[in-house]
Amino acid sequence: MSVAKKEVKRITTHILLEMKKQGEKISMLTAYDFSMAKIIDDAGIDIILVGDSASNVMAGHETTLPITLDQMIYHAQSVVRGVSRALVVVDLPFGSYQANPEKALESSIRIMKESGGHAVKLEGGEEVKESVIRILASGIPVMGHLGLMPQSIYKYGTYSVRAKETDEAQKLISDAKLLESLGCFALVLEKIPAELASEVAKSVQIPIIGIGAGEGCDGQVLVSHDLLGITKDFHPRFLRRYADLYAVVKDAVSAYITDVKSGDFPNENERY
Ligand code: KIV
Repeated sequence: MSVAKKEVKRITTHILLEMKKQGEKISMLTAYDFSMAKIIDDAGIDIILVGDSASNVMAGHETTLPITLDQMIYHAQSVVRGVSRALVVVDLPFGSYQANPEKALESSIRIMKESGGHAVKLEGGEEVKESVIRILASGIPVMGHLGLMPQSIYKYGTYSVRAKETDEAQKLISDAKLLESLGCFALVLEKIPAELASEVAKSVQIPIIGIGAGEGCDGQVLVSHDLLGITKDFHPRFLRRYADLYAVVKDAVSAYITDVKSGDFPNENERY
């Protein structure tokens, strides 16, 4: 029987480590609100990420930079109320941890206290070392995020594949090892060559969750709005769409409009 299915009431960071040891893949998706979190949790997902991608898919911003700590806490509170089994990880938004370790710790404590989330995620390696140490010392589990780091989009200038060159690949490997040695319980690797991600997954004991990082990772994460086809004009190669909810919702709303205009809705069974 799989590690995650064994009467697990709540997925913990320890269970995730055990899953990696047993070779059981880890499933992770984003959620930002109560209703979606409840469906995703009921389906049996292992990790729910309250991602700062909320800035894009919930608020309509071009980047993840504008979302605030208060807004992330609001999304995380809503998600936590809908989840009973998955581990809920909450992104530290841009500006809430980069300044110094004290600020990083304060932001993380606010997330844990005010939202009830179970862990935080932040972007970066060596650059955020002191912050990771400080957060972990307070007992808050930390997930790292390397490769394409959307909070640094204005430094990169593009969302294309990262770490294709040797220097960047070497730094990514040493950052992954560093984050593991500090005590991070897992890492997200975003949009890097599959071979590199696979090498990292083999060289650390903690789970590596990939997005656009190939099949050699210990688990996969996608933005739920992309997987469900709610976002219509986003077609990266790594994305597999499992539904076309854009069309489903649009057709349902069109049918409703038609019925209201024609007087077909409500009928005599749909009134008091
Ligand atoms: O914010 C987010 O959705 C993420 C995933 C892409 C991993 O960080």
